[in-house]
Amino acid sequence: MCGIAGYVGKRRVAPLLVDSLKRLEYRGYDSCGIATLDGGKVWIKKDMGKIDDVDGKMDLKNLPGNIGFGHTRWATHGKVSKRNSHPQTDCKDRIAVIHNGIIENFSELKKRLKRKGHRFRSETDTEVIAHLIEDNLRSGLDLEEAVRKSMNSLKGRSAIIVAERGFPGLIAARTGSPLILGVGRDEYFIASDVPAFLNHTRKVMYLDDGEMVVVEGEPRFRNLTDGKGIEKRVITIDWDAKQAEKGEHEHYMIKEILEQKETIMKAINQDEREIRRVANEINKAFGVFLTGCGTAGKVCQTGEYVFSNVANKHVNYVVSSEFPNYRNFLTKKTLLITVSQSGETADVLEAVKAAKEKGVKVISLVNVKGSTLDRVSDITFLIKAGPEKAVASTKATTAQLAILYLLAYACAGKLNEGKKLLLETASKINDMLNPRYEEYIKKLAKKICREKNVYIIGKALNYPMALEGAIKIMEVSYIHAQGFAGGELKHGPIALIEKGSPCIVLTANDGMNNIIGNAMEVRARGGFIIGVGPKRNEVFDYWLKTPDVGLASPIVNIIPVQLLAYHLGVLRGCDIDQPRNLAKSVTVE
Ligand code: F6R
Repeated sequence: MCGIAGYVGKRRVAPLLVDSLKRLEYRGYDSCGIATLDGGKVWIKKDMGKIDDVDGKMDLKNLPGNIGFGHTRWATHGKVSKRNSHPQTDCKDRIAVIHNGIIENFSELKKRLKRKGHRFRSETDTEVIAHLIEDNLRSGLDLEEAVRKSMNSLKGRSAIIVAERGFPGLIAARTGSPLILGVGRDEYFIASDVPAFLNHTRKVMYLDDGEMVVVEGEPRFRNLTDGKGIEKRVITIDWDAKQAEKGEHEHYMIKEILEQKETIMKAINQDEREIRRVANEINKAFGVFLTGCGTAGKVCQTGEYVFSNVANKHVNYVVSSEFPNYRNFLTKKTLLITVSQSGETADVLEAVKAAKEKGVKVISLVNVKGSTLDRVSDITFLIKAGPEKAVASTKATTAQLAILYLLAYACAGKLNEGKKLLLETASKINDMLNPRYEEYIKKLAKKICREKNVYIIGKALNYPMALEGAIKIMEVSYIHAQGFAGGELKHGPIALIEKGSPCIVLTANDGMNNIIGNAMEVRARGGFIIGVGPKRNEVFDYWLKTPDVGLASPIVNIIPVQLLAYHLGVLRGCDIDQPRNLAKSVTVE
């Protein structure tokens, strides 16, 4: 979840790192810090707060040197404090370490190191790494071997970068958490995600799990277990830096919502042979599971309905963090479809691990090419949404949905019909997302922005989207929002409805949607009904029209809710792109 970035080259490193950290801030933003090497010294500045604030206070950019690294934190071990910010150092401040991940056996390691006389100054698990390396150096190993041995002592998922006073480069290693080497001209970048250095190079080398890289002159890759050298290929990625900028928009979130004018079209531009091949695998499989977390999980849950309605095919949605509990149902004939924007979500990767242990084939829908999930999957469909920087997922959601529809239609032997529906949907979204539409939603946001609770109901295909709508509203506006299956309200939650309680009702012309009766029940108890769908109904107090796209309604219905969440957040003065307590890439379990 934390963002890490390093640089070895000829340029002044500190300003470059500040820039990289700002680009990685979506990964964590409760504290940050930088370490540079210069004049035989390790220079460190760090504190609580976002990069700009800490830079304003401490002038991070002023640190000397051409080698260094920086970290932006999402706290796991130890509260948010200056002491717990990274970099962390050894007893003599000779070794500096930044880390993304969790060390599961850190208490044992810390106890052991303390017994050997190491002095700890933070509550982080990361500090253990600095002392372990120090210990291994004391026993006579060189830095490279000391880092390798230390990494082999850690349990859990980690990505680290290490600097040592006097060592003219950096060493990075990973076991689980992502790490990528950017290759420039006589300069190298190391980061947890490509946007950190996309404005400098599009050439990358991926570290796989259990690998380390020594960046001192030409980078050398080694296996962590046996220390053997590894050959790596340079890959050119097709994102450009501009795509990862906000442009004229105030926030990434609104930019990304509006990009849905094009992203669905891009998503469905897939190799049809591959879609048909996978559809065939789905049809042949004995037990198909769909898994993802959070918003991506709601996409999977929608997929369950889509496969059922379009292809008469039973697929099972299981949230990734629970998937390993289903391992007894897995056989070699099972198929697992995973959905993840980042391709780095730890719970999803654990689900894949559990599946692979049973010989299950894994097919993934991923946005980030080269991500861990992309590389461990048997087949990947890239959703082609371009970089998604706002923590709240929007354009990736609808792109993922579109590909699940394609697969379902292909399973039913109706790929062309599915493609036609999605093309029509994409073009109607293009029309819908106009400034007048946004103004109308803003007006609604003004009306309800002081409310404490928002309810959102849907049925069938739109039930998971009701759950997703609630996620969007909560995370961006901090208003408590809850999604329900329309039919469930009367079994309890309707007790919460008071005069004026906003209730969003997702409707569709899909032959399954008899939710109006539920809306009436809420209205009869004083609820303020916000209808979303193609057809106005007298029960609606406010109507957010969406195009009539039949079975594809979840794709269009979630968009006005994304816009509403955005404007609620703006009106309430929330941190739209980096909501409190969250991080974009959840690389811890
Ligand atoms: C919410 C949101 C999260 C992610 C979840 C999985 O807006 O973005 O719920 O969907 O953390 O992330 P990925 O898709 O990267 O696996």
